[in-house]
Amino acid sequence: MSYLDTTKNVYREAALQPDVGLCCTTSPIWQLPELSIPKRMLEMNYGCGTTVHPRDLANEPRVLYVGVGGGMELLQFAWFTRRPDSVVGIDPVEEMLEACGQNLAKAEEENPWFDSSFVSLHKGDALDLPVEDRSIDVAAQNCLFNIFETAELKKALAEIYRTLKPHGRLVMSDPICEDPIPEKLRRDERLRALCLSGALPLQKYLNMITDTGFGTVEIRARRPYRILAAPEYDTPQPIYIESVEICAIKDPMPEDGPCVFTGKAAIYYGTDKYFDDGKGHVLLPNQPLAVCDKTAAALAALGRPDIFISPSTWFYDGGGCC
Ligand SMILES: C[S@@+](CC[C@H](N)C(=O)[O-])C[C@H]1O[C@@H](n2cnc3c(N)ncnc32)[C@H](O)[C@@H]1O
Repeated sequence: MSYLDTTKNVYREAALQPDVGLCCTTSPIWQLPELSIPKRMLEMNYGCGTTVHPRDLANEPRVLYVGVGGGMELLQFAWFTRRPDSVVGIDPVEEMLEACGQNLAKAEEENPWFDSSFVSLHKGDALDLPVEDRSIDVAAQNCLFNIFETAELKKALAEIYRTLKPHGRLVMSDPICEDPIPEKLRRDERLRALCLSGALPLQKYLNMITDTGFGTVEIRARRPYRILAAPEYDTPQPIYIESVEICAIKDPMPEDGPCVFTGKAAIYYGTDKYFDDGKGHVLLPNQPLAVCDKTAAALAALGRPDIFISPSTWFYDGGGCC
């Protein structure tokens, strides 16, 4: 049996009996007008952060959601899409699909605007998605990919990339960890399945995303998630885990590498009317321009005393340089 089977077993149990503390929600649950989330769906919120961002959901998108859990985010996506089959949910665990379907049926009773035909649920695996090439506008996963080891993570990212239309986006929320996680914990299949020991350092995760081909990446939020400490986890030092929300956009890869926005801004405070770097970035006095890390580094390398580059805020949701 591999860790992938252990993962499915963990979520089989969590489908049959909701496990309220299984994951750690790191952001408030979206409250939307006339949205009522059934109690059991809430109890089965096995994600961290959110993948639901109104800015991604204009123009009647088709949404793919991988690893459905209790269905809360599928319902939230459907709040925006409101068309038959506009949210496609994929999960390999029969019992999870069934629980999700029941929760959505309950949601239909509680929400006059919601029709369960808006969501279609299918048995399938993140590593081999039963979804056509280039058919999806927004793909989402919450607290699943961190469980995968490198080869599977690579495959899961490639599968999402394949299903996305050009300029489509992968929106994800997952734990990350900058502290070293002892090999013993990394190899603990149950801990990994519980999103506690597979987390990668952010830069490594970002490299895997951009290596897949995503030309633009946004870091939308970065939040404290968990501490793993002795004696429960037998670690010499407490391990600090964070959660991160990332949007990876299937834009063409720029010749000089991906644009990764981590929330940096450039501010020109010289005496001229503006500063123009000749590469499409015009800075007006004292008006922050959101810049990707590549542009931030290029501007910093100019060594000008009248350009300030802010640190990463890890909060970026659009606008700016590229
Ligand atoms: C941590 S839960 C997250 C559920 C949901 N995204 C949420 O935020 O509540 C992981 C989900 O991924 C599903 N899963 C497990 N292995 C999977 C795989 N190989 N491919 C797709 N989904 C998988 C589980 O059944 C479960 O629904």
